[in-house]
Amino acid sequence: MGVAVVTGAGGSLGRAIALRLAQDGHRVAVTDVVEGTLKDTADAVSAVTDQVWSRVVDLRDETALAAFFDEVPRVLGPVSLLVNNAAVYPTVPFLEMTPADYETVHAVNQRGYWLCAQLAGRQMTARPTGDDRSIVNVASITMHGGWEHLAAYVTTKGAAVAMTRALARELGPHGIRVNAVSPGAFKTAAEEIHHDPEAYDAMVLERQSLKRRGTSAELAAVVSFLTGPDAAFVTGQTVEVNGGWVMA
Ligand SMILES: NC(=O)c1ccc[n+]([C@@H]2O[C@H](COP(=O)([O-])OP(=O)(O)OC[C@H]3O[C@@H](n4cnc5c(N)ncnc54)[C@H](O)[C@@H]3O)[C@@H](O)[C@H]2O)c1
Repeated sequence: MGVAVVTGAGGSLGRAIALRLAQDGHRVAVTDVVEGTLKDTADAVSAVTDQVWSRVVDLRDETALAAFFDEVPRVLGPVSLLVNNAAVYPTVPFLEMTPADYETVHAVNQRGYWLCAQLAGRQMTARPTGDDRSIVNVASITMHGGWEHLAAYVTTKGAAVAMTRALARELGPHGIRVNAVSPGAFKTAAEEIHHDPEAYDAMVLERQSLKRRGTSAELAAVVSFLTGPDAAFVTGQTVEVNGGWVMA
């Protein structure tokens, strides 16, 4: 078992992923831009393992990110798993979105994923192969059908999948696997962008093949699979976790 970094770990899915990776036996470094929710996650993970370390980092700040990745090996050991999970999802009509709005979404959801993958990848390639090393990028069901007023977000999620394939190609010879997980609709803070929760819930259930809402733990279980030994020959893939809403 190795050292896992989870970004956006203060959020619901990030917390579930951090918990699950700790339960799998990994040491876990968690990060988020929001101190309070990150602390809650670190507390929850510390009930599973004492090998947990948290640090507030804004993914837009490349200096802080580099310092974070430098610190992880000193505290827990060299990074062997990265889950790029943090995201922002402002709802703005496309024709009204300013370049600054777009830059923010891109800086977190795409450039942030890129920088983390690069910083983690450098640590992973700096030592001999042997342990299982991998990266999981969190995409979104919205990349398939688009979503009104989320064009920037949807764009970055499509980019996360394209980046997954490019990095899988380039890092595979180093023994590093790179996959993506694409969540459908999970009940997290992200759902608050939908103004009528009951109508949204009904719409989700109508579109899903499975007539119940998925849980964060079920999403985390797929991340666990992708980072674990049963997926040792799986790379460059995107796993849809959406109750059969989109079948890709
Ligand atoms: N919930 C869903 O239904 C759903 C659907 C599709 C995809 N996703 C994806 O799942 C992932 C987790 O989403 P969630 O639903 O748990 O949402 P969330 O908002 O609860 O979690 C996102 C986390 O990212 C953090 N974050 C935002 N800006 C940051 C920054 N600049 N630096 C560092 N951290 C930052 C937030 O503080 C938050 O804790 C995201 O990538 C999201 O796009 C979620």
